[in-house]
Amino acid sequence: MPYDILMQSYRNRIETFLPGCLPAPDSTPERLREAMAYSLLAGGKRVRPVLALAVADLLREGASQSKAVLRYAAAVEMIHTYSLIHDDLPAMDDDVLRRGKPTNHVVFGEALAILAGDALLTRAFELAAKADEDSAEHISDASNRLEAWLLLANLAGSAGMIGGQVLDLAAEGRQVSVEHLRKLQALKTGALLQAPVLGVAALLDAPPAASEALRAYSLQLGLAFQIRDDILDTEATSAELGKTPGKDEVNQKATYVTLLGKIEAAQALAAASLAALQACEQLTALGYDSRFLAYFAEVLSGRTS
Ligand code: IPE
Ligand code: IPE
Ligand code: MG
Ligand code: MG
Ligand code: MG
Repeated sequence: MPYDILMQSYRNRIETFLPGCLPAPDSTPERLREAMAYSLLAGGKRVRPVLALAVADLLREGASQSKAVLRYAAAVEMIHTYSLIHDDLPAMDDDVLRRGKPTNHVVFGEALAILAGDALLTRAFELAAKADEDSAEHISDASNRLEAWLLLANLAGSAGMIGGQVLDLAAEGRQVSVEHLRKLQALKTGALLQAPVLGVAALLDAPPAASEALRAYSLQLGLAFQIRDDILDTEATSAELGKTPGKDEVNQKATYVTLLGKIEAAQALAAASLAALQACEQLTALGYDSRFLAYFAEVLSGRTS
């Protein structure tokens, strides 16, 4: 299957699966459920769940069909969506446009936006407990599943994405070193891009050498992804991005562009992309078909949205 078609088919499967991950209508105040659905079902590139399905198929052909993998992919997307809702709040980046629509707090008010984010995060981990219901699938044993969900909690939490968001806010208006910026971005963005890759490797009990190569791939992909985000903020339109460009300068953010300028930022992006492709070669040498992951890294490094 051509890789662009495969990417679209992964996306379609995620789009079909996500609505069922929301709480049942009679279990939750209607306005809260609406606020959760508003952001979760607003499109988005679905980069993180695509990674989860792709890594599953790389490790074991057809494993992306497993409910346990799909649930894990959906959980990562729910956590990502909550992080965007909170990232856009006036207390953080203060954005009014996201995924081509007014931000959650603009439509539902700040209190409900905060709570919708909280509920998406909590619901994501409820899916972990559900994984036991279909253990008959035998895609992984209980200890592998526990490891995968623990990984997700760590990468999303204070030592991961949330920690990175704190560093991002603390760096506003300050001159930081490139090493510090790299660490900040590896946490705020890299952690949630690593989660689907490392989490699925844990779910499927990948051999250590494959896990190591996947770790390198996802680390570099995460760095490249945020550098591209920084560049797009300075050159894309709101129609392309579905969010407001130029916000990093307004908010005096520390980014690759503000720190190094566009040319050096592009060089850093190219270096991270190349390193991701080298990790794909390692996977190939280990006997895995890494061509889709290589394709995906190239697509993301040249993305315009
Ligand atoms: C935006 O993430 C926030 C960053 C980490 C740069 P995405 O660019 O993946 O946003 P969506 O999910 O496509 O909306
Ligand atoms: C967001 O980084 C990272 C998280 C939401 C965790 P940005 O603040 O750069 O993302 P955008 O540009 O608002 O999408
Ligand atoms: Mg931010
Ligand atoms: Mg932001
Ligand atoms: Mg940004």
